[in-house]
Amino acid sequence: MLPRAGVLPARGMLDSARAAVVGRHTESEVLAAALASGRSILLEGPPGTGKTTLLRALAEGAGVGFELVEGNAELSPTRLVGHHDPSRVLTEDYRPENFVPGPLVRALQSGSLLYVEELNRVPEETLNVLLGVLSERRLHVPRLGVVDAVSTFRLVAAMNPSDGVGTGRITPALYDRSCRVAFDHQSADEELAIVERGSADEHAEAFARRAVEAVRATRSHPDLRLGSSVRGALDLVALASSLAALRGEAQPSEDTGADAARAALTGRVVLVEGSPRTVEEVVTAIWAATAPRPDDAGSGSSGAPEGDGAGKA
Ligand SMILES: Nc1ncnc2c1ncn2[C@@H]1O[C@H](COP(=O)(O)OP(=O)(O)OP(=O)(O)O)[C@@H](O)[C@H]1O
Ligand SMILES: [Mg+2]
Repeated sequence: MLPRAGVLPARGMLDSARAAVVGRHTESEVLAAALASGRSILLEGPPGTGKTTLLRALAEGAGVGFELVEGNAELSPTRLVGHHDPSRVLTEDYRPENFVPGPLVRALQSGSLLYVEELNRVPEETLNVLLGVLSERRLHVPRLGVVDAVSTFRLVAAMNPSDGVGTGRITPALYDRSCRVAFDHQSADEELAIVERGSADEHAEAFARRAVEAVRATRSHPDLRLGSSVRGALDLVALASSLAALRGEAQPSEDTGADAARAALTGRVVLVEGSPRTVEEVVTAIWAATAPRPDDAGSGSSGAPEGDGAGKA
């Protein structure tokens, strides 16, 4: 008989997610319920939208291990599954003791949550290994034998559909064996809460708000085909605070903010083809456009409509 998925504690997972993650209430509930009832899941959404943070919290709440695998073209079946130590094989022959388990075997044997990022970049033969595990909850490893999944084992894979790499190769068979949960960017208020969590400086709300506004503006700017995730805002705030201290400023000056914005954002955005401006020029303009206007001094908010405004400068 094939191994079966056991129950995981949905409430414990949800409580853990709520403590670790800003917003994402529906996603947290649906994921906790799906994992509790033994389902496998495909997550789809842009980078930096909290997928890994949420899954890690759910695994912790379930009391199971968390194995993270970064999907890329080099993720061969051997890397995922494991291999026999070649030097020991020479002297001892193939034995279970000289098998070095990869993340998949570790997760199966310990009943962990295996989280594969960037699934769309994974080679076809590695996808087929995952597909087999999804169907059977067991894996046949040459010269090692059958590895059955401990009942708490779950597989969650994530991909960024807009990254255009190989998404079409994700076979219908994989979708047919998984639930799908889509992630979008958080609201401006949620992104601000995320940035403020990551910041040690409690008095920097106005600056954090501005960083979030600038990052959101990169996503809708006509000169940019790819904007920054909230990671850009996290870096911008941390960098500006450290740079201001280095320069002896109580608060980051306009120049310090602009230097931090360029360093935090220019590598994360991508220009549209044929744009007459450089990324430095675009980011500098976006940053300048988020400067507080004289009429909203003291209001702590630019009042700009969400996800808009700043990028139009
Ligand atoms: N909802 C959230 N709550 C708390 N922190 C968040 C949230 N969303 C993003 N973050 C923070 O933003 C950063 C990126 O989040 P995370 O790594 O979870 O994103 P991701 O969706 O897994 O990205 P990628 O697709 O690039 O792997 C982390 O520092 C994380 O703490
Ligand atoms: Mg991730």
